[in-house]
Amino acid sequence: MTPYTTTNTGIPVASDNESLTAGAQGPILLHDHYLIEKLAQFNRERVPERVVHAKGGGAFGELVVTGDISRYTKAKFLQPGARTETLARFSTVAGEQGSPDTWRDPRGFALKFYTEDGNHDLVGNNTPVFFIKDPIKFPDFIRSQKRLPGSGLRDHNMQWDFWTLRPESAHQVTWLMGDRGIPATWRHMDGFGSHTYQTVNEAGERFWVKFHFKTDQGIEFLTQEQADELAGSDPDHHRKDLYDSIERGEFPSWSLKIQVMPEADAEGYRFNPFDLTKVWSQRDYPLIDVGTYTLNRNPQNFFTDIELASFEPSNVVPGIGFSPDKMLLGRVFSYADAHRYRIGANYSQLPVNYAKNAVVNTYSKEGPMRYRSTGPDVPVYAPNSFGGPHADAAVAGDEGLWTFDGDAVRAGYIEHAEDGDFVQAGTLVREVLDDAQRERLVGNVVGHVLDGVREPVLSRVFEYWKNVDPEIGKKIEEGVLAGRE
Ligand code: HEM
Repeated sequence: MTPYTTTNTGIPVASDNESLTAGAQGPILLHDHYLIEKLAQFNRERVPERVVHAKGGGAFGELVVTGDISRYTKAKFLQPGARTETLARFSTVAGEQGSPDTWRDPRGFALKFYTEDGNHDLVGNNTPVFFIKDPIKFPDFIRSQKRLPGSGLRDHNMQWDFWTLRPESAHQVTWLMGDRGIPATWRHMDGFGSHTYQTVNEAGERFWVKFHFKTDQGIEFLTQEQADELAGSDPDHHRKDLYDSIERGEFPSWSLKIQVMPEADAEGYRFNPFDLTKVWSQRDYPLIDVGTYTLNRNPQNFFTDIELASFEPSNVVPGIGFSPDKMLLGRVFSYADAHRYRIGANYSQLPVNYAKNAVVNTYSKEGPMRYRSTGPDVPVYAPNSFGGPHADAAVAGDEGLWTFDGDAVRAGYIEHAEDGDFVQAGTLVREVLDDAQRERLVGNVVGHVLDGVREPVLSRVFEYWKNVDPEIGKKIEEGVLAGRE
């Protein structure tokens, strides 16, 4: 039998179609509380969209560990044979909720692992580096990628102005303007934890680690022309592709690998290993197999499973900690703060965010919409003499442990032997890309710059690319000048 409609509190209602009026043509009556409930509820259907990474999609799955990295970390979910439930959300960065999936942008690669030690979140991108290296620049950077204050339009001049004034962006911008800037689908891109994390093993030994998720589907990309076409004909192209492939039973997977740097190597390594604009060469620190990450279950409700999902780099379980990467340390604050504003103080109680495979014994209490509570006799303060939970450093998470420099300063990273804003971008262009990829890179930059970039920014764009690689720089300059004729 079809169920009957009720109010939010379960009381059967008389009509799905007609409001209560005084006579057929008379005014609507105020005590039609069901009409009022419907209209008022509708007005409150939205939570604010994420300030960045607003457009995305995701799915559930599992991580199965097939390798043995126990000598590097005691994290239980990374021990041989472990299987852990997971949620992934992929996204673009700058576009709003309705924006096309195929705009050129890094793609978010946010993962939540529901482990027995609490939720572990790895909130990365499809690139191993980032545009900036200090969190104080994040709001400026993002605003330059969003919209002009007056017209509300996006503006390439603003983007290149910021990038060229902050040349540490060059490595990430080279990735972005190349093929990786528009993946064919979310299934056909790699994911990176990007930051350097610290891991700790059972013996208390510490390592610096980077996480890589290599797509088992192979890397595939869209050309600018294909992406532009899809932006109009199929703006939800990536969300749809992931959903449809899981519905078909084609479960996308990624091979999880790590790079490990012995703690003592960090100081003398040729690149500062905590600088998020740099990678570690895989010749120096080869990839080590960990396991397989598979997505096999679609959301049942996009809003409750994906829109309300809250990822936060502060969620690290015992065995994994932070590092001197300033960006990571800034993000450790930022995300939980964003969730308290966007969803509410008790966002971690929602089913998608709840640490369902761990025991949650928190002294945090009350607040709007709290519905999980401790028993009537559990003390609400610590320390106490009545059996309430007690913190124990022996089982606590590893927040990261390293020796600090000294005085409080506002300074850039300590430069290592081969650091420099353009060094790795140049290596990427010359040693990683092939001729066809280089040609598309030039074409993408030329097209992007021709769309509104003007002096004094334009000259700096030419200079920026000549610093990355003289030949590429020359081609870009020639291409732009020819396009302007
Ligand atoms: C989302 C801040 C750098 C990846 C967000 C959100 C904020 C934020 C406030 C929205 C959170 C929400 O409302 O749910 C910052 C700050 C950064 C930074 C302050 C620099 C200090 C990065 C970097 C990466 C990254 C370097 C990747 C390596 C992501 C992803 C999301 C996100 C993937 C979307 C998460 C989701 O799917 O819900 N960021 N971010 N962010 N950020 Fe960052």
